[in-house]
Amino acid sequence: MDIIESDDALRKRLRQARHVAFVPTMGGLHAGHLALMGLARRHADCVVASIFVNRLQFGPNEDFDRYPRALESDCAALEREGVDVVFTPHEQVMYPTPQVYRVQPPPLADELEGASRPGFFHGVCTVVLKLFNIVQPQFAVFGKKDRQQLKIVRGMVQQFNLPVQIIPCETVRADDGLALSSRNRYLSPAERTEAPRLYKTLRTISDAIAAGRTDYANLEVEARAELARNGWKVDYIVVRHGLALRIPHPEGFDHPNLLIALGAATLGGTRLIDNVDVIPKDGED
Ligand code: PAF
Repeated sequence: MDIIESDDALRKRLRQARHVAFVPTMGGLHAGHLALMGLARRHADCVVASIFVNRLQFGPNEDFDRYPRALESDCAALEREGVDVVFTPHEQVMYPTPQVYRVQPPPLADELEGASRPGFFHGVCTVVLKLFNIVQPQFAVFGKKDRQQLKIVRGMVQQFNLPVQIIPCETVRADDGLALSSRNRYLSPAERTEAPRLYKTLRTISDAIAAGRTDYANLEVEARAELARNGWKVDYIVVRHGLALRIPHPEGFDHPNLLIALGAATLGGTRLIDNVDVIPKDGED
């Protein structure tokens, strides 16, 4: 496995590849990331991962400085997974001058994650566009845990005619349902025991919709109350249309199988996000 820090060296190395599948990450790797690598391998002869903690997508009061950085163990895990190339640029490589040009994402970027984290999707889209331009992959794999990110990146690819196919990957969960996340390592043992409640609460909503309930607003209120009772600070718990991420028709005209429940909430000092399809379909977005 080659570990490459400069964009020039990366471009040179990738001239040998026929098809490149790319997995952008911010490191702090876990089994969820390794599933992305495995899916990438099914699409191309050359799998490239990047590890770059992107300052642009962190707000001033967020965890940029304490975001997990474990380059050595991350690279060891990627090597075991059979990744061909890891791109580990320093900030000087990605942002040699202040990044004054930015991608302007659509209004969806100001909702949900974007409402809690202003500027987040400007930062994500800008770095993903730069990484796509450097790596020039035919395929790029994104996890469905970050459902809004997946949707917005797909929209950017479509609207900017980027020659890359976005492949969604199912969320990997611990046995108790907690979605794997780099931030789970911030949880204390007691918080780790409580953490699966976010998934269970979203599951309760999706099961209720599958059973015929269409009073989405009530389901959202009940779920928020359940989390708050158990010590969570809730950012949002919502039912949305799974493809457009728009608010579903209040009369229940949307097909229930197309709906998803999404949530973000903070436990102790750790903000967790998750989403659950009403009827999970493996490999489908
Ligand atoms: O999902 C992430 O880890 C990040 O948002 C990404 C896509 C690597 C961009 O920094």
